[in-house]
Amino acid sequence: MSKAVYAGTFDPVTNGHLDIALRASKLFDDIIIAIAEDNNKQTLFTTDERCSLVRQVTKDLPNVKVDSFSGLLVDYCREKGVGFIIRGLRVVLDFEKELQMALMNRSLYDKVDTVFLMGEALYLFVSSSQVKDAAKLGGDISNLVPPPVAKALIDKFT
Ligand code: COA
Repeated sequence: MSKAVYAGTFDPVTNGHLDIALRASKLFDDIIIAIAEDNNKQTLFTTDERCSLVRQVTKDLPNVKVDSFSGLLVDYCREKGVGFIIRGLRVVLDFEKELQMALMNRSLYDKVDTVFLMGEALYLFVSSSQVKDAAKLGGDISNLVPPPVAKALIDKFT
């Protein structure tokens, strides 16, 4: 059985993330969306809130589970017996960071490979930070995030 982890901060999950999760769910038997608890990032949403939002928006994908992790991602992969890490690639700028991360992860644990998926062109410009910035200033982000996330952002900022 092929298993993969799709890891990230997901603060919050966007349509771009969801598109990658959907593509990955067709390639692997089981996907764990692993939400980083402590990632040197000041998050708007708590770990529980991020998990709950990802659960709500992936509820129709039967082979996708949601979990959180702390510490090294490769230790989480080892613990779960997972050999693949999914990452989405959007623009060239992503590549350098992703290459470094993939090679570092493989250097830490040589039984893990990173699989890169190209996201939907519509969402190439979407990032969680920009979605938060726009929502905070009253911008309409409803075409960039799933409805429960749009609602959660409105609730946070009103
Ligand atoms: N669609 C939309 N946005 C996307 C995206 C996609 N397909 N892919 C990435 N992004 C955005 C995210 O929204 C995020 O935007 P932001 O920075 O504005 O918030 C940014 O790209 C990167 O986010 P993400 O993909 O969630 O990665 P991350 O850098 O937040 O998290 C971890 C990376 C958690 C996987 C990594 O830090 C990790 O493994 N940490 C654990 C510690 C560890 O093992 N360290 C050693 C690893 S080298």
